[in-house]
Amino acid sequence: MTATTDSTIELTLLQPDDWHIHLRDGAALSTTVRHAAASFNRVICMPNLVPPVKNIVDARSYRERILQHLQACDLSPERKVAFDPRMTLYLTDHTTVQDIEAAAQSGIVQAVKLYPAGATTNSADGVTDINACVDVFEAMEKHDLPLLLHGEVTHDHVDIFDREKRFLDEVLAQIIVKFPTMKIVVEHITTSDAADFVLAQGNQVAATITPQHLMFNRNHLLVGGIKPHFYCLPILKRASHQKVLLDVATSGNPKFFMGTDSAPHPIDAKESACGCAGCYSAAAALPLYATAFDSVGKIDKLEGFASRFGAQFYGLPVNQSTITLVNTPMQVPTHYPYFDGRKLTPLMAGETLPWSIKSQ
Ligand code: NCD
Ligand code: ZN
Repeated sequence: MTATTDSTIELTLLQPDDWHIHLRDGAALSTTVRHAAASFNRVICMPNLVPPVKNIVDARSYRERILQHLQACDLSPERKVAFDPRMTLYLTDHTTVQDIEAAAQSGIVQAVKLYPAGATTNSADGVTDINACVDVFEAMEKHDLPLLLHGEVTHDHVDIFDREKRFLDEVLAQIIVKFPTMKIVVEHITTSDAADFVLAQGNQVAATITPQHLMFNRNHLLVGGIKPHFYCLPILKRASHQKVLLDVATSGNPKFFMGTDSAPHPIDAKESACGCAGCYSAAAALPLYATAFDSVGKIDKLEGFASRFGAQFYGLPVNQSTITLVNTPMQVPTHYPYFDGRKLTPLMAGETLPWSIKSQ
């Protein structure tokens, strides 16, 4: 961190990576790829397209479509070279050991994503019976391909606020016992229970945390009227959970690292009688995380969380380039243009953040 004479504070970090992002597909990529590539080098691209990214053929062609949009956008040649979309396979009841072997050898697939069927946006093809995944998990363990989890049970009778804890206790604990060396990331954790669970496991189990779960709680979503742009899954929890998430994210423990879960939906799909789950944060993700870390006086811990721990977990080198944050306020746009003339409302639309990214 450098303080300059005129009370401007600059914070130069190794370039961060986003270990959990939804870029979507088709024309949506013109917006999402540009925003992601402006800040991040590696991004782990979630596979919940319609239809999902199920095998290496799907993954290769999705990556090609992302790279075509990258070439077409107005970023510097350096950013275009640095941006590296890492792919995931969507685990279904029909994923085979051969799919895993091909993914492990491909050099472009970073992990396999498990959505319990029906847990969230585009998860209809997700796994219905985890016990049927034994061969696939064995292959992942053998090939060192991490399992990324949307950690929520989906039974109708389980309260939405309890779904994460129930998944950890009833499903994940068993997976870890059966596959003790498989690398696992509990994605977008939302509770102190999840933080404690991850802390209690070995180094093969880690977690990502989103900006919205560090900055907000369920009061922001529900008090004074329903705010659809705070609705994501797993849903925001009570303030005591938010506090614990901030504690662990800013603790310097390498088990916790950045994964924005930036998940765009057009404004009409969010502001609806049955609104979609997902917060769009990619364009302002670093200022958002900086604001959260700064709120507890821990901005010095941001670089580990954003730029080191994820790479370490995945066994990748840390980036060499840097990005500089500055304490010049930034105004989050009220919306971005999205595909087909539709609009995309970002997290904290129209609000002012105390940190911005210094233009190069
Ligand atoms: C994500 C999406 O829209 O694809 N939504 C969300 O609320 N996070 C799916 C997911 O990661 O659960
Ligand atoms: Zn997600």
